[in-house]
Amino acid sequence: MLKLKKSEYFTLAWTGQSLRILDQTKLPQKEVYRDLKNAEDTWEAIRNLRVRGAPALGVVAAYGLYLGIKDFPGRRRSDFLTQIHKVKSYLETSRPTAVNLFAALRRVEEKLKNTSFSSAEEGKKKVLLEAKKIEKEDETFCDRIADYGFPLIPVGAALLTHCNAGALATAGDGTALAVIFKAKEKGKKISVFVDETRPLLQGSRLTAWELQRRGIDFTLICDNMAGWMMRQKRVDLVLVGADRIAANGDAANKVGTYSLAVLARHHKISFYIAAPVTTFDLDIPDGESIPIEERCGDEVTGFAGKRVAPPGVKTCNPAFDVTPASLITAFITDQGVIRPPYSKRKFQRKLKP
Ligand code: MRU
Repeated sequence: MLKLKKSEYFTLAWTGQSLRILDQTKLPQKEVYRDLKNAEDTWEAIRNLRVRGAPALGVVAAYGLYLGIKDFPGRRRSDFLTQIHKVKSYLETSRPTAVNLFAALRRVEEKLKNTSFSSAEEGKKKVLLEAKKIEKEDETFCDRIADYGFPLIPVGAALLTHCNAGALATAGDGTALAVIFKAKEKGKKISVFVDETRPLLQGSRLTAWELQRRGIDFTLICDNMAGWMMRQKRVDLVLVGADRIAANGDAANKVGTYSLAVLARHHKISFYIAAPVTTFDLDIPDGESIPIEERCGDEVTGFAGKRVAPPGVKTCNPAFDVTPASLITAFITDQGVIRPPYSKRKFQRKLKP
């Protein structure tokens, strides 16, 4: 029996033979589940955003690693480790920005390298066990983020969020949206502005879908309306997720996040990022080192799958941008709220794995 979330849908679930995911490209029109049966299915689902959101990508990649080695015929430990490395390197080419994907794959490989197992069969079991652990931990991270985050939301506040940092982006209840769900659960009257999030519309397709199901009072706006909402004092704070946070606190998230942070600073509004420990990449010094995914121009020339721009136009389509640490009021993490000044040492101290 697959475990359903509080709202009766699930983002991902291990069935025993495959990883079942809710195909997010079909939402909100259809709720279609898809079984990922091998590493290629997993790679395709990640690349095409059937499953997405940094923490979910970590979990899916770990299961993908298992799917990629479960039928490996070799018996020797060394051959098995070589195969693990091969599948890991392949999955790493799916999407470049969310560090959770890389961290989860590295964690599984390291675990296998550092534990003793005599046969490939035994090794396979260990990989699956580690993937399940990563999933379970992510669920807990979401709960903790919610617990640390909801006290920061004033009663009656109007929040603005971008992209989707909800249950659809994690193995639990989400990061930014988990804070919102918790605030509501605790009886706080709040409302939310949801950015549409061009070009792939994670806001209007996914966040709107989740918030509606959870009974949250929200208003959908186009991305270019956020500034005007702030100017009219209709937004009290911005709350978003992240894909990779560097050692100095610079944070990559869905493109458009940086503009919101600049607007928030101009209008003296708090700008919060909610993210688990697995989204911090303390090995890179700053946002300059974060690889930004560049996606196909068709996403820009079209809207919801329909061609809009004339043929032959030039496009540019970075999927993420980097918000400088100086614009971030605080990070809401599974280990507490971290405020400036940000530094590698501070993150290391506060974020114990
Ligand atoms: O391209 P996507 O949909 O994978 O982008 C996702 C985001 O930018 C999210 O805000 C981020 O991964 C945080 S999810 C908890």
